[in-house]
Amino acid sequence: MIDLKEKVAVVTGGARGIGRAIALRLAEAGADVVVSDILDEAAQVTADQVRQMGRRSLAVAVDVSKMEQAEHLIATTIAEFGRIDIMVNNAGITRDNLLMRMNEDEWDAVIAVNLKGAFNGIKVVTRPMMKQRSGKIINMASVVGIIGNAGQANYAASKAGLIGLTKSVAKELGSRNIQVNAVAPGYIETDMTRDLPEAAKETFQTLIPLKRSGQVRDVADAVLFLASPLSDYITGQVLHVDGGMVM
Ligand code: NAI
Repeated sequence: MIDLKEKVAVVTGGARGIGRAIALRLAEAGADVVVSDILDEAAQVTADQVRQMGRRSLAVAVDVSKMEQAEHLIATTIAEFGRIDIMVNNAGITRDNLLMRMNEDEWDAVIAVNLKGAFNGIKVVTRPMMKQRSGKIINMASVVGIIGNAGQANYAASKAGLIGLTKSVAKELGSRNIQVNAVAPGYIETDMTRDLPEAAKETFQTLIPLKRSGQVRDVADAVLFLASPLSDYITGQVLHVDGGMVM
């Protein structure tokens, strides 16, 4: 049994999809959870669900691509709960297009949220975690950051960058007992993947040895493991949650 009682977690992009599942999974294990998202009302709903599970919670409206908003998120968390043990940098977006058609705005938006957003999230928890001499940072990458994907050059670059960021920070913070890992989901059924063309969904299915798409709970379980003491000797790793799609 994983017990996260007395632990305080922050989940970005926690209003829906994988982020919401992570917030609820951590709460189920006993953690208090700060739910942050650019979607304020939906974040409030997730926070309410956490409270219904008997844990403390708070929703904080944040655009992760803005450093001052990330600073506000952690200042609020520390003011309210006194510490930060688990930081899940999950917020992410897609702006898919073939490179020939991809414009600068599509490139910049994805890098700003997926890569700079995680940098901001890591920066703001580093000092409090170093002081505590403990912490878990979990970054949401993607198998696309490992194998690439036509039509997703911006997204793949952001997720590949996130993996390099994860490994570098793991090396920097290891001596302070802070573990930094990434999770690389494959094809998970969420709002983000809902509008994929049917042909693309079928192609994914043929590439998955476990012969099913992933559910948000599959990713949340992996994050729970990386957030728990069971993973205390694991850092700088990329945990694939993809039914075996990428080996
Ligand atoms: P989603 O679109 O359902 O949820 C993403 C959440 O992030 C939303 O609540 C959204 O409001 C929030 N968000 C977007 N921009 C933000 C910003 N600037 N600041 C704060 N919050 C922001 O997507 P899903 O599927 O739950 O994805 C979550 C993470 O998992 C993303 O990083 C995504 O790249 C990654 N992922 C998802 C996969 C999938 O198959 N669904 C596969 C691999 C990775």
